Amino acid sequence: MTPTAPGRTDRRYLMCEPVHYTVSYEINPWMDKTRYTDADLAVRQWRTLRDVYLDLGHTVETIDPIPGLPDMVYAANGATVLDGVVYSARFRYAERQPEGPAYQKWFADRGYVTHTAAETNEGEGDLLVVGNLVLAGTGFRTDRAAHAELQELFGRPVISLDLVSPHYYHLDTALAVLSSDPADPQIAYYPPAFSAGSRAVLRQLFPDAVEATERDAVALGLNAVSDGLNVVVAPGAVDLAAAIAARGYNPIPVDTSELLKGGGGAKCCTLEIRPASGSGR
Ligand code: ARG
Repeated sequence: MTPTAPGRTDRRYLMCEPVHYTVSYEINPWMDKTRYTDADLAVRQWRTLRDVYLDLGHTVETIDPIPGLPDMVYAANGATVLDGVVYSARFRYAERQPEGPAYQKWFADRGYVTHTAAETNEGEGDLLVVGNLVLAGTGFRTDRAAHAELQELFGRPVISLDLVSPHYYHLDTALAVLSSDPADPQIAYYPPAFSAGSRAVLRQLFPDAVEATERDAVALGLNAVSDGLNVVVAPGAVDLAAAIAARGYNPIPVDTSELLKGGGGAKCCTLEIRPASGSGR
């Protein structure tokens, strides 16, 4: 039987307004520093995305943007937060390295227990919690050693997946978590972004996953944010939207085209803060 949307649960997100947005360096194939970027448009699109979350009843917290860190808008890369515990990001490229401590400080200042990563990892860009598992990308940014470090820290099985296509350099550009319900985990992914072995692992773990098309992938449609029912997705990902709607999800197209110039979409702009169970936070 085809799986269906388990239903909405409350979420807490951390976001960073792109007031300093620009493309001044190139660390992924989407970035072209000769192309014009419009920070005002980026801010308008970002605010629309934030307002969608608020209208859905979710909580949105914000971190102050730091001048000179234009990629800070991609908050998903800032950390990985599970059970109220923070595993800090440690960025691959020098241009983004100050973001790791900045995000970690934001959490520490608010009383979260934070762990400073010894290994290179780009937060939820590559480390996606799905039910009781963590799916972990490697190949471009996050080192495999970080997968082991995360498994030791959180005590959850971490499944390493090899990314092979430069446009899909972070796991969250190639795979979307539709349901994180431990009793009913569901994902969508773009198979060509993964090595043959990793595709086989995904097929084994998620035989009913939604397989996205090339049209979905190039629109960065896999960079979607689901609350278990509502799925914020790039407007160009029409096949993905139809496939998830057929499973009872509510696709909500949100245009983040300006942020795509940096190689990110809705999910990249959204870090999920998963509270300790039982805590109000
Ligand atoms: N320009 C950023 C980079 O290349 C984009 C990050 C996108 N974030 C994400 N979660 N995929 O690092």
